[in-house]
Amino acid sequence: MNPQFWHNRWSSGNIGFHNSSVNELLIRYFHDLNLKEGSTIFVPLCGKTLDIGWLIDGGYKVVGVELNESAVKELFKSLKTGPKVENVPFFTLYSAKDIDIFVGDIFKLNSTILHNITGAIDGIYDRAALVALPKYMRGQYTSLLVEISNNAPQLLNICQYNQNLMQGPPFCVNKDELKKHYKGFYKLKCLHRKSIDKFEIEVEELVYFLDTTIKQRAYLILKEKQEALSHTELVNLYVEKYPNFDKNYKDTKKKPKAKISGTIDSVLRDGGHKKIKIDKSTTPHRYYIDKQTI
Ligand SMILES: C[S@@+](CC[C@H](N)C(=O)[O-])C[C@H]1O[C@@H](n2cnc3c(N)ncnc32)[C@H](O)[C@@H]1O
Repeated sequence: MNPQFWHNRWSSGNIGFHNSSVNELLIRYFHDLNLKEGSTIFVPLCGKTLDIGWLIDGGYKVVGVELNESAVKELFKSLKTGPKVENVPFFTLYSAKDIDIFVGDIFKLNSTILHNITGAIDGIYDRAALVALPKYMRGQYTSLLVEISNNAPQLLNICQYNQNLMQGPPFCVNKDELKKHYKGFYKLKCLHRKSIDKFEIEVEELVYFLDTTIKQRAYLILKEKQEALSHTELVNLYVEKYPNFDKNYKDTKKKPKAKISGTIDSVLRDGGHKKIKIDKSTTPHRYYIDKQTI
């Protein structure tokens, strides 16, 4: 889908995807992400969605990306905030208190640009973004989200229908495809599934919670390292790689490092992640991933 397609839709007012009220599924399910107020939520392909104002009013910071500058100007108008506008690498950045919107092509974004300007991402809200992209772009998009957010938890709206009966966008994205893109990084949980009558054919809207568990992140570290690690080595690498993560969870009563250490320990005791094996022939024991199971 080339950028001109979207610019034409915005300039001709063909923006049926834009809702005139906050997405009720966001209101219903956002708190499943369990993020503390003050956390930063990434809203890819954000358009001028009113959902952003709802997140900010709820005490969150928003980082968005949108191709079309006029949409972003309208977004700030609806927020009744005058943005500061500046050029940053590859983008024009519109920012105000609790909000940064990168105007440009999301595929130009990378962790360095994002982290230098906005800091770490704690959660992702994807509505009409993954499904706005044709199949050949979706793998690149999902890998980008995982990379720039260190696989932060996501609330994801998708739709399913017979792709032969309607041309996207929105495109049909089914569970198998979601698994293909995200299963290595997240636990996928379907929170909502209902037919909608917005289109001439039968379309179902689904909401997924993409959760990143501590043990899944431990698995990713071991997979990346490709060597056996002691408990202490694994915990230290975890804290280095995910410095912000567990501080942002509301239910983290223990200090993050102690909590991570305890959870990793329970993975050891219970064999809680079927791909993480334990070498008990050494002291201390070492965790590893059997190459066959990666
Ligand atoms: C279907 S709309 C969804 C907008 C918004 N998420 C909402 O819920 O109203 C998709 C948006 O993505 C933007 N877009 C498409 N491709 C993009 C890209 N490569 N980089 C940044 N934005 C893009 C379009 O301009 C459009 O506003």
